[in-house]
Amino acid sequence: MAKKKPNDPVLQEKFAELDRKNKEALLGGGEQRIEQQHKKGKLSARERIHLLLDEGSFEELGKFVMHRSKDFGLDKEYYLGDGVVTGYGTINGRLVYVFSQDFTVFGGSLSETHAEKIVKIMDLALKNGAPIIGLNDSGGARIQEGVVSLGGYADIFYRNTLASGVIPQISAIMGPCAGGAVYSPAITDFIFMVENTSFMFVTGPNVVKTVTHENVTAEELGGATTHSTKSGVTHFACVNEAECIQQIKTLLSYVPQNCEDPAPKLSYTPGDELRPALNDIIPANPNQPYDMRDVIHGVVDEGSFFEVHKNFAENIVVGFARIGGRSIGIVGNQPASLAGVLDIHSSIKGARFVRFCDCFNVPLLVFEDVPGFLPGTDQEWNAIITNGAKLLYAFSEATVPRITVITRKAYGGAYDVMNSKHIGADLNYAWPTAEIAVMGAKGAAEIIFKKEIAEAQNPQEKLNEKVDEYTQKFANPYRAAHRGYIDEVIYPEETRAKLIRAFAMLENKAAKLPRKKHGNMPL
Ligand code: HXC
Repeated sequence: MAKKKPNDPVLQEKFAELDRKNKEALLGGGEQRIEQQHKKGKLSARERIHLLLDEGSFEELGKFVMHRSKDFGLDKEYYLGDGVVTGYGTINGRLVYVFSQDFTVFGGSLSETHAEKIVKIMDLALKNGAPIIGLNDSGGARIQEGVVSLGGYADIFYRNTLASGVIPQISAIMGPCAGGAVYSPAITDFIFMVENTSFMFVTGPNVVKTVTHENVTAEELGGATTHSTKSGVTHFACVNEAECIQQIKTLLSYVPQNCEDPAPKLSYTPGDELRPALNDIIPANPNQPYDMRDVIHGVVDEGSFFEVHKNFAENIVVGFARIGGRSIGIVGNQPASLAGVLDIHSSIKGARFVRFCDCFNVPLLVFEDVPGFLPGTDQEWNAIITNGAKLLYAFSEATVPRITVITRKAYGGAYDVMNSKHIGADLNYAWPTAEIAVMGAKGAAEIIFKKEIAEAQNPQEKLNEKVDEYTQKFANPYRAAHRGYIDEVIYPEETRAKLIRAFAMLENKAAKLPRKKHGNMPL
């Protein structure tokens, strides 16, 4: 509303008309529907934007847009803004673009004009190199509009794809997101969901029941818990909308505005970087698990680890952190889950994260303790070959600074895959507890000394002797260090200090891939 009224009554009336329209637009589908939204534990589209952006920074675009449909009674029902609030603002002073679907207007459904508004800010975000955040709460295609709505979705999908790798794209699902509508969030970099009030599926429970005769609720089929644990579709499951919005802000603090910008770096005053507690994390028994998060927390700046995909494929840990103030992406095998083995889901999880970091100039730090790839028909028949190759491919093509620390096992193909020097890592460190070998000592001895063991008077004794021999030779970091595959064997307590210096040394790394249209990653 204008702060100062004009003096002329004609102008006053024009200003008053604008006031009325502004007021009307702010109400979306009306107070009653906003109340219903609140009753479901959901915020309105504008309340969400208010929480997300810096106070007073939101500039709205397309506030008075209205749909152009005439069918099925739509010629009698208009709402200013047409079910989506779009514009730009700042988060911690940094420019972002945002769209927030308004469920109070036709269930947030996507009409031709609703799509045009989203497309407009996507184009602005891409041209101006700033992240775009979509707050989704929609019944899908505006059913009364038919194909123009489908066209609108495709216009968005196309731009999601063009923007991929250029600007960070973040989707928060804060209500329904069903049918083809799910494919816009799916193309974006990170998906956040809110527990109990959001769901995502291609076909809902009713269709599922008709086609497969399964009885399943919307929450079971496509709620935040399902997608954060079973499918991995969502990277974050949040207890409520406020937490969801806070997490989006935290995530953004680690990533740059676009692919041309360096990753954010906070000012940092060096102190005593020795971390003696790290010396006691690896158990003396190589088969005993430990939590790789303890290593991560011990190395990075205090409280800076922001885990991504926390409850999905828990045998690999990925997330952002800071070291000496610098943003980094961390990938760590997790011995506390399935002994840290690589399988289909963990390979996909790792690969997707590595590719994000590489797109957006976030250096990579790998903590390695991996006994190999998971055996079994389930894995083979579901293409561990193709899926494991994704992680290998993602690391190999990454040109950001890349460092590996081998804490314990680095066995077999997994040694190569987990950011080995052979596939382009810049620096590889090993702790004295590292075991770099083709496989575990027992398995190796059983194969290469099979005959000798079978013919021995006491086969068990012979096996133990051969296991010891293999362990002596290979279950250590020194063979690899003699070859230069390991740059330095370090004491765990000095890892942090080494990494701070190493990432500073790699700051101006310039690496180029061979000229190509794009690679053909195994999908
Ligand atoms: C138009 C819609 C709508 C839609 C909801 N509404 N979805 N209007 N097009 N797609 C309207 C309702 O008529 C209602 O209007 C208001 O939004 C709120 O809806 P309710 O059903 O009362 O809300 P609720 O009980 O919370 O259920 C929400 C819902 C349900 C689960 C989303 O509305 C629903 O199932 N909608 C249809 C979903 C769907 O089939 N969409 C098309 C999917 S196909 P009033 O006036 O009463 O407030 C698709 C293809 C995309 O999206 C393809 C892309 C390639």
